[in-house]
Amino acid sequence: MTSPTQTVQMETKSPQETLELGKRLGQRLVGGLVVALVGDLGAGKTQFVKGIACGNGATDPKQVTSPTFTLINEYAGERKLFHIDTYRLRGSAELFALGFDELIAEDAVVAVEWADRVQEAIPEEHLRIEVEAIDANIRRLTFSATGSSPIACLKSFIQAQP
Ligand SMILES: Nc1ncnc2c1ncn2[C@@H]1O[C@H](COP(=O)(O)OP(=O)(O)OP(=O)(O)O)[C@@H](O)[C@H]1O
Ligand SMILES: [Mg+2]
Repeated sequence: MTSPTQTVQMETKSPQETLELGKRLGQRLVGGLVVALVGDLGAGKTQFVKGIACGNGATDPKQVTSPTFTLINEYAGERKLFHIDTYRLRGSAELFALGFDELIAEDAVVAVEWADRVQEAIPEEHLRIEVEAIDANIRRLTFSATGSSPIACLKSFIQAQP
């Protein structure tokens, strides 16, 4: 049996707007949520996660940088937030070797960039965010939630739109 899915699309017109959108999601996180980010180089995945971290109450947004070289970053806030960039990993096995299972087992939120590269590691219940560059400053974000908890989170996020 496949879990129900809910999808919604939004557009942002600047990096700031993407940050604001991420903030709104960051204010509505649920424990155990896995956010799977997909999109080309420079699409805006990290920018969105910066917003999540801000919304979750990270004290200094400047501390939230791309984790490409540190692999896993942890940000303090309302909930524990892990940010993983899997760009340099060869696949799910390497991600599991980093202790991915333990991260998602906690009452934390895990944001994974390049999630399509580690597809086997992403639990069935997750929030997928595809970021596409439409032109220099316009980004289309497609949110797809699978499973009751991610869907509840997405619904709350949708309702919070101005
Ligand atoms: N509407 C927008 N939303 C987000 N970023 C935008 C937007 N318009 C322009 N940009 C620019 O796009 C870039 C997004 O960079 P970011 O690091 O977030 O991408 P990324 O998807 O994480 O890339 P990578 O795959 O290299 O990690 C930034 O330089 C940002 O200024
Ligand atoms: Mg990035």
